Amino acid sequence: MNNILNQNLEIKGKKVLLRVDLNVPMKNGAITESSRVKKIIPTIKLLIEKQAKIIILSHIGRPKGKFVKGMSLKPISVKLSSLLNKEVLFNKNKINENTLSEVNKIANGSIMMLENIRFNEGEESNDSEFSKKISKLGDIYVNDAFSCSHRSHASIEGITKYIPSYFGLQINEEINALKKITSEIKKPITLIIGGSKISTKIKIINNLIKKFNNIIIVGGMANTMLKHTGSKVGKSICENDCGNLIKEILESSNKYNCNITCPADVIVSKNLEDKGKEKDIREINNDEMILDIGTKTISSIKSIINNSNTVLWNGPAGFFENPHFQNGTKQIIEIISQKTINDKIFSVAGGGETVAAINKFKKFDSFTFISTAGGAFLEHLEGKTLPGIKALNQNVRIK
Ligand code: 3PG
Repeated sequence: MNNILNQNLEIKGKKVLLRVDLNVPMKNGAITESSRVKKIIPTIKLLIEKQAKIIILSHIGRPKGKFVKGMSLKPISVKLSSLLNKEVLFNKNKINENTLSEVNKIANGSIMMLENIRFNEGEESNDSEFSKKISKLGDIYVNDAFSCSHRSHASIEGITKYIPSYFGLQINEEINALKKITSEIKKPITLIIGGSKISTKIKIINNLIKKFNNIIIVGGMANTMLKHTGSKVGKSICENDCGNLIKEILESSNKYNCNITCPADVIVSKNLEDKGKEKDIREINNDEMILDIGTKTISSIKSIINNSNTVLWNGPAGFFENPHFQNGTKQIIEIISQKTINDKIFSVAGGGETVAAINKFKKFDSFTFISTAGGAFLEHLEGKTLPGIKALNQNVRIK
């Protein structure tokens, strides 16, 4: 990988097409969570320092090639401008015959954000004419959107065929952090995996079970595991017909010597609003549902983490949106962050709900690395090669 954006690149006065992921959650026109905007700041600052002309490409939502009013990037350009304390010009048009002359007017060290790239028909279909067209807007292309790199879209994949292409600072950092949990591992390594459905995470478990020493299953997924191994889970969320998946997990855990842990005690309730009650997993009544992990489970997670050098966490332990059922998730965050700070273990967390939980408990800075990627993070953990990364590795045409 020698096409990484760096200090030595001579890009003064060059037009840099910078693909980032500004697909942030919005409510009534306001951004509700802005970590993706903050993450692109170092790359933009480097480009400003190098006096490049910065043209930002991004998407928000899934407008399917049409203009959708509520999916404009305009409010995000305002947020970026306030974070940088610098003007961010906004180009409100779809890409057309005037775009080139508009971007040509940008001064060195200035920024122009183009409107949602997915308003253009050729983006999601990875149309080669559209890819060529956007490549002509710049002198070099930089992908700093790991979280979009699982999409074979024009501004991610197609464009790299027509213009010298580079990895941005953030995508490079993300790739290096993920290597430490998939290839350059410092063992013992532990995965804590939660979320509602085991069927959506089975490929991750099957891929990582070969390399990990421990897999701790929590959240709704654990209910499915418990039910299929003989426990009663009452009316908890749980998937039926997963017998084969569970058998597969247990067989490979034996084969690869990976220790699987499920909750031994839990917090139950008759509904989502009530307070919870702690119970052993053998005592669940038919009208109760599992909404969090219990004290014994938390202490066994603690002792596994204490014996780990690397920890990967994806998926909450319970219904943490309700304070009565947040303790398991909160304690997992606490244990990993303490261990990261004190013993310098390598800790990675990622996935939409996981990041939301870390933000809720204000621990964003106490993990070694937090991935704000959703689908791309999960596909990477499944062992897939992401098309955007493959393209950057293949189409290396450095100027
Ligand atoms: C994400 O939020 O995961 C990325 O922005 C990709 O968005 P998409 O799932 O709409 O392609």
